[in-house]
Amino acid sequence: ANDHRQYQSGSTTWQSPANSQSLSTRRELYERDFPLYKQPVEVGCFSLDAQRRFFNDNRQMRYYVEPDRNPNFDLKDGYKDRFVKRDDSVKEKLDHILRWVVANRSKLDSTTASSRALDVDFVTWRGHLTKLLTTPYETRDGWLLAVTRFRGTLYISEVETEAACRERENRTERHEKMMYWGYKFEQYTCADDIQSSPDPSGAVNTNEAFCTVVQTRLADHKLLFSGEVDCRDKDPNAPAPPGCYVELKTSAEICTPKQRSNLHRFKLLKWWAQSFLPGVPRVIAGFRDHDGVVVSVETFHISKISHLIKNEYNCWKPTVCMNFCCDFLSFVKRVATEDNPSVVYLFSWEPCREVTFSIHRDSPYSFLPHWYIQEMTS
Ligand code: A3P
Ligand code: MG
Ligand code: MG
Repeated sequence: ANDHRQYQSGSTTWQSPANSQSLSTRRELYERDFPLYKQPVEVGCFSLDAQRRFFNDNRQMRYYVEPDRNPNFDLKDGYKDRFVKRDDSVKEKLDHILRWVVANRSKLDSTTASSRALDVDFVTWRGHLTKLLTTPYETRDGWLLAVTRFRGTLYISEVETEAACRERENRTERHEKMMYWGYKFEQYTCADDIQSSPDPSGAVNTNEAFCTVVQTRLADHKLLFSGEVDCRDKDPNAPAPPGCYVELKTSAEICTPKQRSNLHRFKLLKWWAQSFLPGVPRVIAGFRDHDGVVVSVETFHISKISHLIKNEYNCWKPTVCMNFCCDFLSFVKRVATEDNPSVVYLFSWEPCREVTFSIHRDSPYSFLPHWYIQEMTS
């Protein structure tokens, strides 16, 4: 049996992006007008401290301090003796966001006379949405997303794929070191207070995080999601959050036009998707030499990235990313119909395949904690 409907129109074959059982990820299907994406509004924030404890406040916020014209940041410094690494075998699922929801329920309560507990269609992490946005262009990593419908809202939580688990457990020392570099760059460029300076002599602890919680709408999908924010503009006259937020990145120094082109074609896709979603307006990239020393920094304005990439041959398109995400969310709404916290609809995707799903009742995939179900049922 044919899995997808096909429409013949002139000499072009049109394939519908979804039937009832699967969703295509082919780029051509999503090349249409950019969907409505409302300006994201920050509705709150939270912090995770050095022991990964949750606080319903901005205590972990950091302030961006512009480096000298000729920076010389050794990203290797401190890896051996001043690095506290978060245990990434611990799967936190949506727990921190759910804690925030419970603590801030009055901001979100459904005003309409409905059985819906929260006035949003989806609750998830920004990082999960980033993966959806980049899916039509991803050729390496698949994903698994668990979805539960509970009191009218769809919760989306990632499940680690077997391949990702193997990679995590078999990381090379070189890879572990390179993962540290990004955090070390943050330490060279961020201060804890508006008045103070960065302190690269301290420890890097990747348990610490400041997260924004934003609300927005993609076409007819009302979204509530949270994402980690690296730092903010320290100018008190800067725009209100998320307009004052800054995303930090590191990348290899660019010496040839080919390297610049590769940055545009591959890295800018990820950088754009991650920051566009929560309305973070700029990415500041530190470029490192062959020896892991940042020797220059460059600002990328998210709103200008679509122009930057227009000259690249066969490049990614923001509209394809957003339309795919929108159609995936519609697909989820159609599929995940049973309102039950112990039912998980597991959506899975591998490169060169379509998105498919399976249904799991009272399984280890269930992810809404009892304390959350209890809180939201009362
Ligand atoms: P870079 O972005 O400079 O590579 P983020 O940029 O999202 O704030 O993440 C901070 C750093 O965490 C990254 O710095 C990188 O070092 C590390 N990191 C984040 N996600 C990663 C991933 N999927 N694989 C490897 N390292 C990752
Ligand atoms: Mg970060
Ligand atoms: Mg960053």
